[in-house]
This record gives sequence, structure tokens and C-alpha cells, in this order.
Amino acid sequence: MTVHIGAEQGQIAETVLLPGDPYRAEWAANKFLSDVVCVNKVRGMLGFTGTWRGNRVTIHGSGMGMPSLSIYANELIRDYRAKTLIRIGSCGGMQDSVKLRDVIIAMTASTVSTPSRGIFKELNYAPCADYSLLETAVASAKSRGVSYHVGGIYSSDVFYDERPDLTNEMERHGTLGVEMEAAELYILAARYGVRALAVLTVSDHLKTGEALPSADRETSFGDMVEIALEAAFP
Ligand code: ADE
Repeated sequence: MTVHIGAEQGQIAETVLLPGDPYRAEWAANKFLSDVVCVNKVRGMLGFTGTWRGNRVTIHGSGMGMPSLSIYANELIRDYRAKTLIRIGSCGGMQDSVKLRDVIIAMTASTVSTPSRGIFKELNYAPCADYSLLETAVASAKSRGVSYHVGGIYSSDVFYDERPDLTNEMERHGTLGVEMEAAELYILAARYGVRALAVLTVSDHLKTGEALPSADRETSFGDMVEIALEAAFP
């Protein structure tokens, strides 16, 4: 057990999918995995381990924002020896070419600050995805026929953003979408020598103001979960 994860040693798989929402972890585990066991309930942050096509996988909530994700990713990597961590989650679209329900596979993630900012100081570190995961995720998205984009995203610290100028600059520089966790996941993966990727579904759009109705979310989020699983186990 760790401070925030109640699982015994051995109950967490080497491959961990990280949705922000603990209930989405439960939904994805029940829908896609076999032999599912709940391995964490501490503070309501649910984690489940099961198998997918014979491979052991844990699906564990990360919470919202980089400080929360940092807690779970640190403990999963350092204490439970997770080796492959794939964020699955929603994001806001930032380009006209990006539509609701599209999948974004994040090559890199820009930030204003992350929990790792104190280490980097004046350095603008460029966090990047693991290339082998990225490549297999792209192949999976292609073969599934989903509309997908590969490129940079913005990991923001704020959902209700008071800096439209910053968002506009991100958009002007080709950023595909905004979410709140991937940059710190990529930084931690680099620090500890493990693999990370973020596969996201566009749930709302900053330019059009559209948002997915909650009933539509499940089906479009299913593609993202399967892309993440196929990326981990090609
Ligand atoms: N996650 C989903 N939509 C988002 C948005 N618009 N901003 C930040 N995170 C998000």
C-alpha cells in the first residue's frame, strides 16, 4: 500500500490506463477487461486490474489536474513498478479541423507550469510521448477508421481559463486541444524511464462552444480506450 493507493504489491499491472474520472475507470474496466478486480478505493479514486486479450492491465483514476495525476503516477511507477502509462481522457478542441468525438494522440504537451516546474526553473522542457506507443496508437486509430489527429496539446492548470490570449497563442501555434494532465505524465515517464502516451477524445470545442451530450460520450470514449489498449499490446 502507498499513501494514496490501497493495492497490495502485485495487484497493479505493468500497463496502466489513466482516465481522470474514477467512474470512467470503472466503466472502462467492466466494459473492456475480463476477470476485473477492484484494487483501490482510497479517497474514492478507483483502480481496477483485469486482463485484455490475455494481457494484465490496470485502469486507475488520476483525478483532475497535474498535481493529482502526479501523486498517482509517482506511486504507480515508483512503488508498483508500472512501466507503461497511458492517459485516456477528454479534451477541448482548439483547431477548426478538430471536431467533437475526434481522437487526439498527443505527441507533446505544452504547459505554463507543472508540479515539475521547480526542477526545470528557467528551462522550457519539452515533454514528449513514447514513440513506440504513439506509432501503435496511430496504427490502431487508422485501422479503426476513426477521425484522429496527432500533434501537440496544451496541459492547462485551469478549466475556467481567464487567459484567452494564451489560448489564442496556443491555437495560433497549431495546438490541437486542451486538457489538464498529459504534460506532467510525460515528464514523470521521462524521469523514471517508463513509457507514456495520452489518447484523448474531443468532448468540447473552445472555438465553437459545442460540447458532447453525456449520452454520446460513452460510445466515442470506447474508441479511445481500445486505441490505448491496442497501443500497449500491439
Ligand atoms: N478537458 C475537456 N475539455 C477541457 C477544456 N475545455 N479545458 C481543459 N480541460 C478539458
